[in-house]
Amino acid sequence: MKLSHLLLALAAAFSCPGAQCAPPAESQDLSALKAEIERLKGMVPDQSHAMKDVAYHFTNLWFAGQQENWQLAEFYLAETRSHLRWAVRIIPIRKTPQGQEFKLADLLEPMEKTVLKDLQGTIASKDPKAFRTQYELTLNSCYACHVTAGKPFLRLQIPLQPEVQIIHFDPAP
Ligand code: HEC
Repeated sequence: MKLSHLLLALAAAFSCPGAQCAPPAESQDLSALKAEIERLKGMVPDQSHAMKDVAYHFTNLWFAGQQENWQLAEFYLAETRSHLRWAVRIIPIRKTPQGQEFKLADLLEPMEKTVLKDLQGTIASKDPKAFRTQYELTLNSCYACHVTAGKPFLRLQIPLQPEVQIIHFDPAP
């Protein structure tokens, strides 16, 4: 701060005694709230982190289905869904490569009503062949969102190995 500015600020401070000149308590609360929001924002995991969780659960889902462990498959599908919702809450709006804004939920909601619901159906009916087909269809829908979000390089494939070692993928005897 320049000296002249400092003097002006001091003059203003001294010509303004008493509580009237202090910012009203409400605006102090508001700025404290804003600071708190900024602090919390810094703690929220980013969308890519949430997607890593989605990929983790969806990968394990494949192996649960391969082993016809339908209870485990049910669990991993539910986790995939809830983590997809979480990811979409972190950054709800993105831009297409053409610069158009789109709501991620507008892609996720129809997915929930179609491919994810149908995938659930294959688990409920314990149909390994239909499960595989439906899993691949879901992967295509996942990828469609990546393309829309301008990330066509996030290509997805049938996973090569599970994400977790400590869980038994075969059903309990
Ligand atoms: C509604 C849109 C949308 C859907 C649906 C979606 N993704 Fe994503 N995904 C994204 C976006 C956006 C990113 C990039 C996030 C970033 O750059 O911060 C991403 C990133 C990823 C990544 C890279 C994470 C990393 O940092 O290594 C993986 C893996 C991934 N998604 C898997 C999946 C799988 C599996 C599904 C389906 C079960 C899926 N995604 C469905 C939008 C979506």
